Amino acid sequence: MFDSHSISRPAMAVLSVRRFSVTLMPTTAAPSPNPLAANPLAANEPSVKPAAVVILAAGQGTRMKSAKPKVLHEVCGRSLLGFAVEAAKQLDPAQINVVVRHDRDAVAAHAQALYPQVVIADQDEIPGTGRAAQLAMEALDAHGEISGPVVITYSDVPLLDGDTLAELVANQVETGAAMALLSTVLDDPTGYGRMVRDQKGDLIGIVEEKDASAAIRQINEVNAGVYAVDAAVLRAALQSLKPSAVTGEVYLTDIVDYAVKQGLPVKAVIAADRYSVEGCNDKATLAMLGKELNRRIVENWMLQGVTVIDPDTTWIDVDVTLEPDVTIEPGVQLRGKTTVARGATVGPDSTLTDMTIGAGASVVRSHGSETIIGPGAQVGPFAFMRPGTVLGADGKIGAYCETKNAQIGDGSKVPHLSYVGDVEIGTGSNIGAATIFANYDGVHKHHTKVGNEVRIGSDSIIVAPVTIGDGAYTAAGSVITEDVPAGALGIGRAHQHNSEGWTAKRRAGTPAADAAAASVKSSI
Ligand code: UD1
Ligand code: CA
Repeated sequence: MFDSHSISRPAMAVLSVRRFSVTLMPTTAAPSPNPLAANPLAANEPSVKPAAVVILAAGQGTRMKSAKPKVLHEVCGRSLLGFAVEAAKQLDPAQINVVVRHDRDAVAAHAQALYPQVVIADQDEIPGTGRAAQLAMEALDAHGEISGPVVITYSDVPLLDGDTLAELVANQVETGAAMALLSTVLDDPTGYGRMVRDQKGDLIGIVEEKDASAAIRQINEVNAGVYAVDAAVLRAALQSLKPSAVTGEVYLTDIVDYAVKQGLPVKAVIAADRYSVEGCNDKATLAMLGKELNRRIVENWMLQGVTVIDPDTTWIDVDVTLEPDVTIEPGVQLRGKTTVARGATVGPDSTLTDMTIGAGASVVRSHGSETIIGPGAQVGPFAFMRPGTVLGADGKIGAYCETKNAQIGDGSKVPHLSYVGDVEIGTGSNIGAATIFANYDGVHKHHTKVGNEVRIGSDSIIVAPVTIGDGAYTAAGSVITEDVPAGALGIGRAHQHNSEGWTAKRRAGTPAADAAAASVKSSI
């Protein structure tokens, strides 16, 4: 599982925002890749390339009790179907075929997004995994009968990886078996098809839970639902399938009975890692498998030199990349394609999605997405970074600040209580506490440009569109509606007038009046 033959990720993080396309060069080497991301290029060269991998994804997933099709549910930032497609890609097959029916368009579109060359096969109204495989086989043979090994796998087995599939194919081919299939032994085999063996230990068939006698339900070796079958055998076996008398479904598992009856060699390979073959039928299993995968991802990063203070409250998606000497404090979720460079600290309690964190930066108790944080920059506590935020090297987005489509230059700081939206700020500038960039006129969004070494006074409202030149100041409490030229002080507020003796006259007898009188006396 922890395969070290991996390809480096691109050395540049590129983020497209509404007005700008920003490219940030990391100061250190590219982040080390995540071996769990199942990059097709990262796999060991498969020894035997199958003619096709068929992924069954037509089932409704009734037990999920969800409006969303089962195979689109995610663990660790990837859909269940995504895991199946990644594992399939690692075998480098001539074709990947996905069988769809329930919520057909959504599942087919997702499959195409995952793998544009995918061949979609539609299941008809006849139910069951066997029927799905029959229609896949017809599609595969549509341009002439295929030959060689065909892999069939289910799309609800997220921890099944390409290496396990490759071993199964090699096993089928090298032993000359007509078919090889994966099984595992579970303490609680409820819900799975049971592997029925004869007294010699040879597999004689698979019996589904729904069709099983009490004695067969005692068997705890279960079918994983992953098969490598010679195309000619598969074709004949699928043609022999009949619907179950109990459920009316056509079971793919009955291809094993066919092979056994024909006297063909069948190889059942017991997977030592039971999680790698566990199917996800309900949301409790979804969470359990997500937690196990996350545990492996976090452990893997720790072994690569990342300091994780509390693995139990750290969640890292499969496509995240981290460098050695990153520190992750408790309660952190790193999502999507987030990357964190050497020496940076994230957390506690932060959720970062598709973010790039530069070397030595720190992000404390914050929430953000599609944001680039430069090396040495500081964020939080309690910052909210929305898409298109780019903070330069050694910059700062401090407490209670919200940013969106905001390019904040090297060394520039937004330290306190501000909203910074649709703004480009140069280098070395300081945005005073509680500044608002008022970007919305109620109909349209407008853009503001702030130069280098600018000092925006506290509690300013900068009404876009305006440009504030290099080295300019704005007076605290100003409403800035016009451009401020380079080097000028922009003041947009009423002049102060002091009404002398007002407290004594209008608030006589109050503690304030007494204090004022005492103050006047002591200063005489
Ligand atoms: C299946 C196996 C069972 C095995 C278990 C392993 C069969 C008959 N049973 O049971 O032996 O122990 O997986 O996890 O194969 N699908 C279709 N078309 C359909 C029905 C299902 O494409 O008509 C797809 C589903 O989308 C899913 C996969 O096949 O990806 C498995 O279906 P599911 O209903 O989850 O099968 P299980 O009951 O778990
Ligand atoms: Ca299942």
